[in-house]
Amino acid sequence: MHILSVVGARPNFVKIAPIAWEISKRNNIQHTIIHTGQHYDAVMSEGFFKMLDIPEPDINLGVGSDSHGIQTGKIMMEIEPVLHRIKPDWVITVGDVNSTAAASMVAVKLGIRTAHVEAGLRSGDRAMPEEINRIVTDSISDLLFVTENAGEQNLLNEGVDPAKIKFVGNVMIDSLVRTLPKAVALKAYEKFKIVPESYVLVTIHRPSNVDDRRQLSDLVDALISISRKSPVLFPVHPRTRQKLIEFSLMGDLRNNDRIIITEPLDYLTFLSLVVKARALITDSGGIQEETTYLHIPCMTIRPNTERPSTITIGTNELIKPNSKDILKAFERLENGNWREGEIPPLWDGKTAGRIVDVLLEN
Ligand code: UD1
Repeated sequence: MHILSVVGARPNFVKIAPIAWEISKRNNIQHTIIHTGQHYDAVMSEGFFKMLDIPEPDINLGVGSDSHGIQTGKIMMEIEPVLHRIKPDWVITVGDVNSTAAASMVAVKLGIRTAHVEAGLRSGDRAMPEEINRIVTDSISDLLFVTENAGEQNLLNEGVDPAKIKFVGNVMIDSLVRTLPKAVALKAYEKFKIVPESYVLVTIHRPSNVDDRRQLSDLVDALISISRKSPVLFPVHPRTRQKLIEFSLMGDLRNNDRIIITEPLDYLTFLSLVVKARALITDSGGIQEETTYLHIPCMTIRPNTERPSTITIGTNELIKPNSKDILKAFERLENGNWREGEIPPLWDGKTAGRIVDVLLEN
């Protein structure tokens, strides 16, 4: 059997790694990895392959950044001849980025069986580009690997054939489980000279949070207020960096000695910091899940989430994206009023094994 996996953006690498490890353990499967080049900076891409111990991509399509239409179109144009030539038995796509939707569309139209890992998640918010990517990918893929109950329910509500839906758990947790001992040993907080369990770790990059001047400025104000009580460590995504500079907000952060601004971090360093954080403030998808697994309080600065089990079972809470609500939530945290949470079913570090078993059966 020949499986071809497609990755493009940072979170994809963490999701495909356990599948690559699992395939390499089986001697009857050939694996090809295509990187679309959606993310291309070493800190956003290359470093992840080494860190996660997965082979370098066999092919990099080098599409780079652009508007959604152009980026999606370029990926489709570049990947079509490659899939045509390789003719794999299965194409695997992961997550909800432009590369996911673009690769699925091309593969399905070439008549190649296509599996989507992390299927069925819905925020209900069609203004989110990822929501469109999820709907498109799920509606055309042949196998839908689901991470949580809501994912299965959403697909059934959309009329998907139940035979396509496989509740296998969460591959991101596979990566976490394998990397955790190294992450704990690294003690990355020492490098930043901050005390474990004292600091708030921040990641913000959603267009809805960073592309509008007033919105981003309000979030910066919230971080400055929080920093009076807890040191803030903020690895800045390239999109956010551009906006902070464009809106002249970077100085406010840099001039504050309780706020540490860094480049985006590699997976191991970041995980090492999550493990010992007092709390996360984020708008990421995956971090909601990682903090739930680790029982670390997570404030998700969004009006909705496609990952509801992190709220109903885990440590995540949705906080409206304004400084007043963020500070109220922080006060609650300080008063010890935050749920410890539990781990959702099948987030056990063995999801990739279940995925590869299903592919072999099919
Ligand atoms: C993309 C995904 C998002 C995911 C995020 C993780 C889509 C629609 N969005 O968002 O779901 O959460 O990745 O990081 O697919 N840039 C660089 N270097 C890079 C990559 C990007 O400088 O290696 C800059 C470019 O100016 C680019 C901007 O960041 O225009 C945004 O990159 P893009 O890939 O379009 O979207 P993300 O915001 O990263």
